[in-house]
Amino acid sequence: MSDLMEEPLRPKRKKVFVDYLVQFRWIVVIFLVLPVSFALYFMIYLGDVRSELKSFKRRQMEHDENVEKVVTRLRSRDPRKDGLLCTARKPYIAVSLRNADYKRARHFQVDLSSFRNILDIDREKMTAIIEPLVTMGQITRVTVPMNLSLAVVAEFDDLTVGGLINGYGIEGSSHIYGLFSDTVVSMKLVLADGLVVRATKDNEYSDLFYTVPWSQGTLGFLVSAEIKLIPVKEYMKLTYNPSRGTLQELAQAYADSFAPRDGDPAKIPDFVEGMIYSPIEGVMMTGVYASKEEAKMTGNVINNQGWWFKPWFYQHAQTALKRGEFIEYIPTRDYYHRHTRSIYWEGKLILPFSDQWWFRWGFGWLMPPKISLLKATQGDKIRNYYHDMHIIQDLLVPLHKVGDVLEFIHRETEVYPLWLCPHRLFVLPVNTMIKPEIGFEVHNRQGDTPYAQMFTDVGVYYAPGPVLRGEVFDGCQAAKNIEEWLIQNHGYQPQYAVSELTEKNFWRMFDGDLYERCRRKYGAIGNFMSVYYKCKKGKKTEKEVLEAEQAIAEVAELAELEDQ
Ligand SMILES: *[C@@H]1O[C@H](CO)[C@@H](O)[C@H](O)[C@H]1NC(C)=O
Repeated sequence: MSDLMEEPLRPKRKKVFVDYLVQFRWIVVIFLVLPVSFALYFMIYLGDVRSELKSFKRRQMEHDENVEKVVTRLRSRDPRKDGLLCTARKPYIAVSLRNADYKRARHFQVDLSSFRNILDIDREKMTAIIEPLVTMGQITRVTVPMNLSLAVVAEFDDLTVGGLINGYGIEGSSHIYGLFSDTVVSMKLVLADGLVVRATKDNEYSDLFYTVPWSQGTLGFLVSAEIKLIPVKEYMKLTYNPSRGTLQELAQAYADSFAPRDGDPAKIPDFVEGMIYSPIEGVMMTGVYASKEEAKMTGNVINNQGWWFKPWFYQHAQTALKRGEFIEYIPTRDYYHRHTRSIYWEGKLILPFSDQWWFRWGFGWLMPPKISLLKATQGDKIRNYYHDMHIIQDLLVPLHKVGDVLEFIHRETEVYPLWLCPHRLFVLPVNTMIKPEIGFEVHNRQGDTPYAQMFTDVGVYYAPGPVLRGEVFDGCQAAKNIEEWLIQNHGYQPQYAVSELTEKNFWRMFDGDLYERCRRKYGAIGNFMSVYYKCKKGKKTEKEVLEAEQAIAEVAELAELEDQ
């Protein structure tokens, strides 16, 4: 290990009251959160079934009526008196970890809760038209039995199409298709003044089309999206490949698992993810779709990972370190949602015994607790504790920097396991918020093509090593260091995370040029909170937001005057 990786010495930390609150939180989770979650999931499921019973035509009709209601509501608003726009969704419903403090500023609510239907599935065009509140679990339940799937299905059941487009979404097929928003064909949005527009890559609203991703809903209300479908088979043939070495060597093994050095497309798997379990051990998993006939052939192992009593997926994968390489066939839908029940590995922190066999067999079917309910029952004390003692960040970095970022994360946080998931970042005709490194194509690096640079999402979700050992740890400082590292290394931090970025640094990380122009052009300024303020940690007042907006508007006006 290089010196760079040496972790700093940290003194022991004294326990305080909130430590005990967190330690015994499982009582609330078991007796309150889990049963209520289960009931909520069941009600949502009934809602999905009810939606499925309606014909596509009927759903489309209701959609049109609901859009009309949104337009009417927007036209009834007086921007000077009524405050900024936001959805009527309760802040804790979102899966994102930052509490949506922005909703505390005075605002004018628009109810989008009825936009939860799949409007059409077109086998000819291979697209689906989906409303923003449709979840991943809902969509795969419909498409997988048809041998179809969204090109990118985020793993967690609860994630919504709207969140994945307005923010970011990724999964093990992103090394082919890019981020979730890259699979969108068209979007229907309602702008602040009530105008309904359809934006595509090449129509008059193409600038809007390209700026909605990462905008966090601050340009208009998304009311439906047409998304690319791909043909899939019933099973995923998954190879678990253990790997040992330094973090740099693990990063190389990970890159080799899905990006063949000779660039031969036949060697690129349909799916890929890497798990780093310690500074010297990892398991790389690659999957290809397989038919039922193939899976059922004698000698093949079928793993119905979706059953509630099954060992948690990341722990199951870890056994490859002992067993050596092995291959399994997992039903496609089970595979897509393999990390749901354990909330990746966060479940272990919330309910320390929930990975034990007796809990899984007895109560595994109650898992996972709804993140929204966990947030609603945590209170400010526990929430702040988590900000300090716990890391949930995704680091999007160029593939050639994965070794470096693993060493950096080790030194800063010692969080394990780490999740590795590659994704293409396409070269687009306009300046979007995130983009490949300038001149990346001349290096011809592993995984890159002239039209896209290969990136990797490094998921850092857990209590840091020092916290687990009872040592002093400064979560805010760690987050700041991570953010600065990302800015220096052309990396990005998805905005759902708790961010410590200042406004200036936020715009060092993201390119705000086209975004600001679209905000002006489509009347978002003074109507939707700007994305930095929406994501900023802590409470913000309406005055603060409006003053910032005013400043931006003035700068923009000056710029326009200078242009003339
Ligand atoms: C899905 O594909 C399998 C073959 O792998 C086929 O037997 C089945 O009928 C297909 N299902 C649908 C709904 O087309």
